Amino acid sequence: MKREGSPKVPTRSKPSRRGSWIGFAGLAWELLIVGSLALNLVAIALFASPSLDEGGAPPLDFDAEASVAASAALVGSKHSEGRDEEISVSSTSGSRPTSKDAVINLDHGDPTMYESFWKRMGHRGDITIAGWQGISYFSDVTNLCWFLEPEFDHEIRRLHRLVGNAVADGHFVVVGTGSTQLFQAALYALSPPDTPHPLSVVSAAPYYSSYPAVTDYLRSGLYRWAGDASAFKGNIYIELVCSPNNPDGSIREAVLKSENGTIIHDLAYYWPQYTPITHAEDHDIMLFTVSKTTGHAGSRLGWALVKDKDVAKRMIKFVELNSIGVSKDSQFRAAKILKAISDGYELPNPKNKYKLFDFGHLLMSVRWKRLREAVKVSGIFSLPEFQSSYCTFTGKRTETYPAFAWLKCEKEGVEDCENFLRSHKILSRNGKHFGAARKFVRISMLERDETFELFIERLSSLT
Ligand SMILES: Cc1ncc(COP(=O)(O)O)c(C=O)c1O
Repeated sequence: MKREGSPKVPTRSKPSRRGSWIGFAGLAWELLIVGSLALNLVAIALFASPSLDEGGAPPLDFDAEASVAASAALVGSKHSEGRDEEISVSSTSGSRPTSKDAVINLDHGDPTMYESFWKRMGHRGDITIAGWQGISYFSDVTNLCWFLEPEFDHEIRRLHRLVGNAVADGHFVVVGTGSTQLFQAALYALSPPDTPHPLSVVSAAPYYSSYPAVTDYLRSGLYRWAGDASAFKGNIYIELVCSPNNPDGSIREAVLKSENGTIIHDLAYYWPQYTPITHAEDHDIMLFTVSKTTGHAGSRLGWALVKDKDVAKRMIKFVELNSIGVSKDSQFRAAKILKAISDGYELPNPKNKYKLFDFGHLLMSVRWKRLREAVKVSGIFSLPEFQSSYCTFTGKRTETYPAFAWLKCEKEGVEDCENFLRSHKILSRNGKHFGAARKFVRISMLERDETFELFIERLSSLT
């Protein structure tokens, strides 16, 4: 097998990274022109060929109610406004829209917008694994996390040094099957084993909709979901702090301050394409995921940076009991993917073509502009506003472009925004799943261009 992630750190000069952001203007044009050409071609294909890409896709996350809603929309549903509606076209979930009338599925945060970047990268993200390689359960028995591939470990630390978003030195790296597994490993590690009552797990609303479901689905005797942190009374707890926050993009700190409380920082979106990097986070437990860093959600990989050795050990024990380690194949691939990103900034890259964060930031900025325009045209929605900040990675003031839009329906008489959008064949996630009002929905901003464009067109037409 040829893998190129050997632990050699290429030298790099800091200014090249900053300069690259500025020198990205040329690429911006290129991207916009290519993007609009692509959109035209897609539009032609969409309207001329209804049979384009009809492959179905499995549900992508664990929100049962959302999946039921999505399925109902696909086969025809009776929605709350009392009209029968036959929706016989396929959803965009996991695939491209098949027609102008397609059901647009923005319920899941499926990061397919990154596909075009990785196509542009050519073979830079490819790996070949020989049949005989990666057979053992073990990756490195000298490492506390014995199922962590050394190259993946190396590339994680290298990327954090490059971006400056988190302090990896002095932390153990624990790898997991998605940060979803690591979240559960952290709950397990932080809960006293001999507790007479389950420990309360809280997060300030609106909180990531998976937190309650993932915390409670096994009805653990160790911990249980206790809702909105802002309403919590008590001083022993685990508080989940997601920053930038899913669903509303806000920058957050813990709201509870007890000495006996513990905190898990979920930093899935603390990357320069979504938010200015203002400082390197340095917390006891920090969770990251390749899903939202590079777009490789299908690899199912996340990592935790953990300060305390005993906590790290217990998290590792959880992953051992739960899945006897983590796929080596995925780690080989992720190591190569992370390496390609760091190389894009640290090695010569004349046209700035291979800079993932530049690509992501530009695309998100265009999308947020288009979304804000559509919201204005329609006049019946509102969106949160964000302040710009100085980004230490780019060396410039940059805006916040969250991975999700936290959309509020302001239309008179509409109490349930999800139902309202569903009646227009747009699938979103209801505010109620985030501990918020039904007037809110969460919309994914990470879908492919064709799906996003169709969404903007449809949203603008709603009055
Ligand atoms: C805040 C947050 N944490 C964790 C995850 C899960 O990441 P993974 O795909 O690595 O399980 C997500 C995915 O949407 C997320 O939004």
